[in-house]
Amino acid sequence: MASKKIMFFKLIISLSLAARSTGNEDDQFVYSGFTGSNLALDGNARIMPSGLLELTNGTARLKGHAFHPNPIRFHKSPNGTVRSFSVSFVFAILSTDPDLSGHGLAFFIAPTRNFSAAFPTQYLGLFSDQNNGDPNNHIFAVELDTIQNYDLEDINGNHIGININNLHSVQSHDAGYYSNQSGIFERLALNSHKAMQVWVNYDREVIQINVTMAPINLAKPERPLLSTTFNLSTVITSPAYIGFSSSTGTVSAQHYVLGWSFGMDSLTPPIDISKLSELPRLGQKAQSMRLHILLPIGIVVFLFAVTATIFLLIRRNLRYAELCEDWEVEYGPHRGELLLVYDYMPNGSLDKYLYGKDGKPTLDWSQWFQIIKCVSNGLLYLHEECEKIIIHRDIKASNVLIDTEISGRIGDFGLARLYDHGSDPEATRVVGTIGYLAPELARTGKATPFTDVFSFGVFILEVTCGQKPIMKDTEESHLMLVDWVLEHWHKCSLNDAVDIKLQGELMLVKHS
Ligand SMILES: *[C@@H]1O[C@H](CO)[C@@H](O)[C@H](O)[C@H]1NC(C)=O
Ligand SMILES: *[C@@H]1O[C@H](CO)[C@@H](O)[C@H](O)[C@H]1NC(C)=O
Ligand SMILES: *[C@@H]1O[C@H](CO)[C@@H](O)[C@H](O)[C@H]1NC(C)=O
Ligand SMILES: *[C@@H]1O[C@H](CO)[C@@H](O)[C@H](O)[C@H]1NC(C)=O
Ligand SMILES: *[C@@H]1O[C@H](CO)[C@@H](O)[C@H](O)[C@H]1NC(C)=O
Ligand SMILES: *[C@@H]1O[C@H](CO)[C@@H](O)[C@H](O)[C@H]1NC(C)=O
Repeated sequence: MASKKIMFFKLIISLSLAARSTGNEDDQFVYSGFTGSNLALDGNARIMPSGLLELTNGTARLKGHAFHPNPIRFHKSPNGTVRSFSVSFVFAILSTDPDLSGHGLAFFIAPTRNFSAAFPTQYLGLFSDQNNGDPNNHIFAVELDTIQNYDLEDINGNHIGININNLHSVQSHDAGYYSNQSGIFERLALNSHKAMQVWVNYDREVIQINVTMAPINLAKPERPLLSTTFNLSTVITSPAYIGFSSSTGTVSAQHYVLGWSFGMDSLTPPIDISKLSELPRLGQKAQSMRLHILLPIGIVVFLFAVTATIFLLIRRNLRYAELCEDWEVEYGPHRGELLLVYDYMPNGSLDKYLYGKDGKPTLDWSQWFQIIKCVSNGLLYLHEECEKIIIHRDIKASNVLIDTEISGRIGDFGLARLYDHGSDPEATRVVGTIGYLAPELARTGKATPFTDVFSFGVFILEVTCGQKPIMKDTEESHLMLVDWVLEHWHKCSLNDAVDIKLQGELMLVKHS
């Protein structure tokens, strides 16, 4: 029984849906793209193969119109009032100049499809200097205007307005929307090359017109941008045509409508945003303009690069020419430069062991201790036993290499500096690795054996604690390993700082 009931309701619902779509198709329609639609077009307007409605193509001083093919009955009875209705559409304006775009586009309701007398430019293809403001126009429009026209008292060059028989708007506002969440006005640039949606709602009971807009990815905001009271029964004829108008002036732009829906006595059926076609790239003009600018820049950069390369090659040859030694004259100019030859270290660098990277086994304390001793021996040699004092400047776990006998060697002398015993090191740019830098380096800029020893100390802590020199604490903020160990030292809990893998093998004792 229950299932029969459900079947019955389903039947009724589908019957009523069918009635709605076949009953009066002009009372409600939706275009999510215009392919195959039979809109009436004039002027510059055309439907592109992709399904975009192009109202103007970027050529100056043109107008274009597109109309729903059938007139719409806005009044229930011949002398009745205009019914409630709602409109939504998705549009986009493309202009070659981000600051200039002319003139705009409008959604309109009008008694005729004959706009041959209307002007382009600031008249938006809707009115002329003869009939602007005439109550016999019977035109209601919502304009998206990208040029400020002082004669028409436009508020700026990026506004949306409600127009009745006149290009002086009844009400207008900077283009944008009021965010649902914050209530703050978010401005939208009409000629941003981005698709945006506009909603127009008229309520016959309270004779209220609302206009709302939003970026394409946003649902209709709750607060309208424009809201005015106006009895459209005195304006709209029955039947009337609905459509879009657009015009260009000396400043031009490409005006597009991507989707459109209409509902009489109802909300608009939703436009399927996912079906809307992509906007074209900017017209030929823009591309050639880009070439005009970019090509010369490209050529200059190319020529500069070639000249610089030739200069460097010549300089290099000259330098070696100066240094020609006697034997070279005899054997010809063979010279392939200084090379640092190093033993091959099959076991790689120490950090891999420390943090168990590459599946390398971790070492026991006696092995770690062996490595620490090797590094300290190496440093002693560099600092005191060598002919010159060598400051390594980048002692850290990843610069300690492990040989086959698991003893460590200091590697990577890329940042090393040499100076004579007994002389004072000069201040230099501070280099090294964060976390290993001795505090006095920042003040003096002088790399000394002491700054290397500080790094070595951090390295020992890294090994014994199994922690990187900069750690993350529980609140995800950075903490220096040195400070962390010091804290344990003060709290007499030094053994808690020891790497868990080494606990039991290694005891740290605080000297009193
Ligand atoms: C734009 O349309 C006009 C008139 O229809 C035409 O003369 C012009 O070549 C078109 N421009 C482009 C860039 O397609
Ligand atoms: C409708 O209005 C016109 C003129 O305003 C009038 O002549 C006509 O009689 C009216 N029709 C009805 C049915 O009231
Ligand atoms: C359109 O209007 C103009 C002037 O307003 C008129 O000359 C022309 O005949 C009209 N065209 C049609 C097809 O009605
Ligand atoms: C216009 O917007 C206001 C505020 O959201 C709302 O209360 C009113 O119902 C709207 N009117 C129409 C015709 O949509
Ligand atoms: C704003 O609020 C209205 C009404 O609650 C809702 O329908 C709409 O989806 C909201 N829009 C956004 C962008 O959240
Ligand atoms: C709107 O105008 C019509 C015709 O002038 C009138 O019959 C109607 O009462 C008006 N509606 C309101 C709400 O004032």
